[in-house]
Amino acid sequence: MAERTQAASTAINGRTYEYVDHNFDVIVVGAGGAGLRATLGMAEQGLKTACVTKVFPTRSHTVAAQGGIAASLQNMTPDCWQWHMYDTVKGSDWLGDTDAMEYLAREAPKAVYELEHYGVPFSRTEDGKIYQRPFGGHMQNYGDGPPVQRTCAAADRTGHAILHTLYGQSLRHNAEFFIEYFALDLIMSDDGQCQGIIAWNLDDGTIHRFNAKMVVLATGGYGRAFFSATSAHTCTGDGGGMVARAGLALQDMEFVQFHPTGIYGSGCLITEGARGEGGYLVNSEGERFMERYAPSAKDLASRDVVSRCMTMEIREGRGVGKNKDHIFLHLDHLDPDLLAERLPGISESAKIFAGVDVTKAPIPVLPTVHYNMGGIPTNYWGEALNPTKDDPNAVVPGLMAVGEAGCASVHGANRLGSNSLIDLVVFGRASAIRAGEVIDREAPIPTPNEAACDKIMARFDDLRHANGATPTAELRLKMQKTMQEDAAVFRTQESLEQGCERMAEIWGEQKDIKVSDRSMIWNSDLVETLELGNLMANAITTVVGAEARKESRGAHAREDYKDGPLGGRNDDEWRKHTISHVDEEGKVSLSYRPVVLDPLTTFEEGGIDMKKIAPKARVY
Ligand code: FUM
Repeated sequence: MAERTQAASTAINGRTYEYVDHNFDVIVVGAGGAGLRATLGMAEQGLKTACVTKVFPTRSHTVAAQGGIAASLQNMTPDCWQWHMYDTVKGSDWLGDTDAMEYLAREAPKAVYELEHYGVPFSRTEDGKIYQRPFGGHMQNYGDGPPVQRTCAAADRTGHAILHTLYGQSLRHNAEFFIEYFALDLIMSDDGQCQGIIAWNLDDGTIHRFNAKMVVLATGGYGRAFFSATSAHTCTGDGGGMVARAGLALQDMEFVQFHPTGIYGSGCLITEGARGEGGYLVNSEGERFMERYAPSAKDLASRDVVSRCMTMEIREGRGVGKNKDHIFLHLDHLDPDLLAERLPGISESAKIFAGVDVTKAPIPVLPTVHYNMGGIPTNYWGEALNPTKDDPNAVVPGLMAVGEAGCASVHGANRLGSNSLIDLVVFGRASAIRAGEVIDREAPIPTPNEAACDKIMARFDDLRHANGATPTAELRLKMQKTMQEDAAVFRTQESLEQGCERMAEIWGEQKDIKVSDRSMIWNSDLVETLELGNLMANAITTVVGAEARKESRGAHAREDYKDGPLGGRNDDEWRKHTISHVDEEGKVSLSYRPVVLDPLTTFEEGGIDMKKIAPKARVY
């Protein structure tokens, strides 16, 4: 059991908040794939570990990950880690950090076999090996060959299978779970060390201080900053919000991925695995238009490319439906037995959310916000960075970030499908390995900085009693619509300038927020208000970073920068990471950090041939 020290308290505006103090070696915030893999890795080493999560672990958004997890196992086609690394570099549009991309591709097979041994029920080939399917942007022979079968799958419920397995394993190793606790903020010492977090127990209204030698943020992405997203409503960028309020940096926020196949209307995900199994997109003329745009990879081009092509078809009047505003995905030519075996989940989703029987009719789909490439900057061990001019790789003591909350940066400007699940487990695992090295087991747990705690609770109390005229839901909708309109699949200087202005205004409107429920127990009005504050920090840095980046790269497609041999990409000036800080007034300051160009191992030491990953135009 956790050690609970004597209760302390703070008084704000005449109201007293008692703290329940807990001492741990490690606190992991978030219980998705990355959080659970980190929790398990820490607990396996005997570190006293707690996982604090606002939703029940197996309801974390990883549960919705469908198509699979990339690793060069070679079970179904030739493959090697170098090809996987090449595809990741190209997918990132040469913005990814080379060391992190090498680490991901090299460690992926080991991490997947570990999952298998932990008990993940992968689908199987005839001869009992892990089943692997093709996915967008994953090719053989450094992009020159046909699609590779690299994505290991448990039907189309891979995230679900991984999450349940990791939760069970974490419990087996005595990790402690604090479930339905909402993390309010990081407790930072005056000299910049993270000492823990304060969290609110939603169930009984108590306030808890988790004092720790290491805090790992695994809070997921911020898809809900946009109007239409495949992300769960809980994906509110809580880690990014906490980091921003601590005066720390966010990185590459302008890169937001649209998944080509969200169900029209609901945004619910239809896995890229559907195209991996032979599905294809058509326009109103019945044309398989991807053959025109990406003659080699076709429907399996990288997802930023497919999303843009779909948008162009719709804009040019070849969308389907009454309003010609979406595209059809056909699976009805596939064997119904294959659909039942490999794609049962999306067959059900199509029925529920689009009223479509996939064996008989196409699914109406539209590009939908799916993933944030940006996040809390880290090195490939998951250690959070506080980049300065003198040291772009300076580490924040006591703080790590993994999964979609973090930015290693392994996906650069665009992530490949199925590279997210592998990111979660490879870097969740890496953070545990690193924590085992840097945590001094004999050292005392830090004593919390009381002034910092008072400030956190003052903000909480202010929001709890906010008595303005704007309901949270109204302001959130305004933000979501602005982000959807102004930071879309295609962007222009005009749309981005408008987005910056509108977001600055919306930020200011937080002062007028109205919270109607003052209670401390299951106060969803206050939870949503705290979440909105987190979304805001993520949203404003996204649009400001995007306006400043005068090029097209990966998911950041600017119509005013699309010419030239690299299609608008400008490596001379813009092959660098955007670093953003946002202050209490919503003012965003930008600086830049160099991309890590050196691999972990040289060619002579068995590393990749660097000539293979030299920058070039990205065509599929
Ligand atoms: O299409 C999908 O199954 C999504 C996978 C991913 O984002 O990695």
